[in-house]
Amino acid sequence: MAREHVEFIQSQVLDWQSWPHLKGIEYKELSTDKETGATTGLFKFPEGWKEKQAYWMESEEEFFVVEGDIEINDVHYSEGCFGYLPARYLRRTVRANKDTTIIRFLDQNPAPTYYNYGDPLPEVGKAPVESLNTYEMVWDKGVLDPKLLHLDFGRKILRIDPETKSKTFLYMVSPQVRPESWSGPREHHPTVEESFTLYGTLAGDRGVMRTGSYFWRPPGIPHGPYGSRTGCVLLIRFVGGAHVNHWSEKMYPFSFDAPYRPILPKHLRGKGLKEWKPTPF
Ligand SMILES: [Fe+2]
Repeated sequence: MAREHVEFIQSQVLDWQSWPHLKGIEYKELSTDKETGATTGLFKFPEGWKEKQAYWMESEEEFFVVEGDIEINDVHYSEGCFGYLPARYLRRTVRANKDTTIIRFLDQNPAPTYYNYGDPLPEVGKAPVESLNTYEMVWDKGVLDPKLLHLDFGRKILRIDPETKSKTFLYMVSPQVRPESWSGPREHHPTVEESFTLYGTLAGDRGVMRTGSYFWRPPGIPHGPYGSRTGCVLLIRFVGGAHVNHWSEKMYPFSFDAPYRPILPKHLRGKGLKEWKPTPF
């Protein structure tokens, strides 16, 4: 498979490496499609970093500011801000006003094409989303799927692609929630599901995902049931089509302390197979 199943890895165990496409930036690769070059990663920009030469990419880009403040074309993206920059969106200036970490979702090879004054402007197909501050949004607590009711959840929809119907949203799960009777059905989707844990913990069938955990789950793979001791906020994407939940008839047990049972590509197994736990006190 060109983009392998990663479920799940704590980004804390991965090393920073230098990003080949822009100088002075480090990143942690979370998942990559070896054929297309599409990739998801955490990117670190040191305070004062600047790209003065304008550039664009054939890749679309979605990103979320985990911490810091980055400015693209004089638009500020502070902690909690989301952006969608369509293919061929011209970045005239990019600067980091603080030490900044963002998670970026790049759907094709992200090599930049530099733009020189006088070149024809690249044509952009889709509308960008510039600096959507998620802290200023309200949780939508409407329940569309009653099988998720026990999570006492909320959503903030960040973007739905008008063509592919791919969806990116924040998903909030309340603390101290679990399936009734400690068991529940498993769900699967016809699309890829990708997720990064921004805050908190979520227990499921592959263990306890903590702040900084990441998964890329190909279509059709059953998962769950879920619950949480602490509550959590996840940044979730359904990639390549509309989000649909299919449920199993069979019920599966739930535990807050499910053992870590990751599925990882070979290159992540060295660091990823051992459970990562923070020091709480
Ligand atoms: Fe799911």
